[in-house]
Amino acid sequence: MKITCIGAGYVGGPTMAMIANRCPDITVKVVDMNQARIDAWNDPDLSQLPVFEPGLDEVVSEARGRNLFFSTEVNEAIQEADVIFISVNTPTKTYGAGKGQAADLKWVEKCARQIAEVADGEKIIVEKSTVPIRTAAMIKSVLNGVGKGEKIRVLSNPEFLAEGTAVSDLSNPDRVLIGGDDEDAIETLAAVYAHWVPREKILKTNLWSSELSKLTANAFLAQRVSSINSISALCEETGADISEIARAIGTDSRIGPKFLKASVGFGGSCFQKDILNLSYLCDYFGLPQVAQYWRSVIELNDWQKRRFAEKIIRSLFNTVAEKKIAIFGFAFKKDTNDTRESAAIYVCRDLLIEHAHLAIYDPQVSIEQIISDLEYVGIDNARELVKSGVITTVEDPLEAADSAHAIAVLTEWDEFRSLDYDKMFEVMKKPASIFDGRDIIDVTATRRIGFDVYAIGKVENEEAGWEVR
Ligand code: NAD
Ligand code: UGA
Repeated sequence: MKITCIGAGYVGGPTMAMIANRCPDITVKVVDMNQARIDAWNDPDLSQLPVFEPGLDEVVSEARGRNLFFSTEVNEAIQEADVIFISVNTPTKTYGAGKGQAADLKWVEKCARQIAEVADGEKIIVEKSTVPIRTAAMIKSVLNGVGKGEKIRVLSNPEFLAEGTAVSDLSNPDRVLIGGDDEDAIETLAAVYAHWVPREKILKTNLWSSELSKLTANAFLAQRVSSINSISALCEETGADISEIARAIGTDSRIGPKFLKASVGFGGSCFQKDILNLSYLCDYFGLPQVAQYWRSVIELNDWQKRRFAEKIIRSLFNTVAEKKIAIFGFAFKKDTNDTRESAAIYVCRDLLIEHAHLAIYDPQVSIEQIISDLEYVGIDNARELVKSGVITTVEDPLEAADSAHAIAVLTEWDEFRSLDYDKMFEVMKKPASIFDGRDIIDVTATRRIGFDVYAIGKVENEEAGWEVR
């Protein structure tokens, strides 16, 4: 069997690497129109892979060149494949009807048209991208338009991996979901996963349930984060502790312990875009109440990010102008180099608007990425701010803390737990503050050192003059 995957991004790359790794009898080709990305996937130096994921280098190195290939020859790869995954980006539309809400399906449709044009014979198209419900109908129409609808089947097989844990999520998934209306096609795909996934974990549904399950899963996950974050604000006002609450409610087996970590706000390429898309669909189908219910998950998240930045500004005597603030972490979560929709972008933007100076430390994120993210959220002069030293990136957290008024922890990188905070305190301006957006700092120990510490969902430091009502 030959598999082709169009799109060598965060999903296409790791997913296909895992299939190739576990199925030596299948030839897997991952194609992309982005030459630089393909070159990086082919780089002999495995630290240069375009996606940073713990353990991915091993998975790739075992299969690459054996039965896993990366290329820009899209047409050739379509022609030779039995199964074609579409794993291209489906971001929120930035123009026209549905701007800021609907998913932009132009890349998915382009793939469908390209397959319709160049494919011959029997094939299976697999929607791996996250798409609005009934996208498979669009793909089928494109195929029918050139008389290939009979020979080419369409399946939905959404991906549930999370970044930072992609390798373990792929090697031991909670479930694999396959939606379709053709038993043979479904079984062909199920047999691929059955190389390593127990059969009882391979769920089969109709096309529409599969497409909608993906949006629903992300909406439920994001809703949990907004729910715990909403309670974190109440904790700060009342003296309850959000991690104690998470433990107390998480032991109820109906609620469960996962995804109850209060934070500065969820980020990532998908939660926001998928909820916006879900809400847009609800409006489209005449369900404004449902649309608003899900939108409120995003509204709460936006508020949480804003609230964190405002807390920093207020606590530093209502001005951060020309004050150096050490930013610990820029990625949207630990163990990834991905910054898409990271809460850090918005917190940094709000601080820069107030003329703060930022020294950013993240073990995986480049300055170029930070500039582009800040430009995207309206800091048009981000590059000049870097040139003039208002924004700096540093290789070492201690350097970030040097002469800073405050440390803001925005990503939960493990290394932040074990830094030498005594030393940090020594080199910082006084009073020195820590704003922990990830609940990873030892509040008691750092307060003992002398820091004023604000942590999401924890009661504030009375001694620092912060109010406890
Ligand atoms: P990505 O932007 O990292 O990668 C998409 C790739 O597709 C890009 O490299 C782009 O150049 C390529 N591409 C687009 N159109 C193409 C075309 N016509 N021909 C060839 N290449 C083309 O995106 P991603 O994060 O991998 O996400 C892909 C899809 O998977 C999205 O729908 C997303 O919602 C979904 N998803 C993402 C994650 C995640 O963790 N990132 C998890 C689950 C699902
Ligand atoms: C999420 C889902 O978990 C995946 O199942 C899904 O496949 C993926 O989206 C997708 O469709 O793209 P991902 O965004 O990679 O995965 O990472 P998560 O672990 O879900 O974290 C998302 C955000 O929520 C991060 O910013 C994280 O820090 C935050 N979060 C998560 C919290 O603030 N608290 C939590 O308890 C959990």
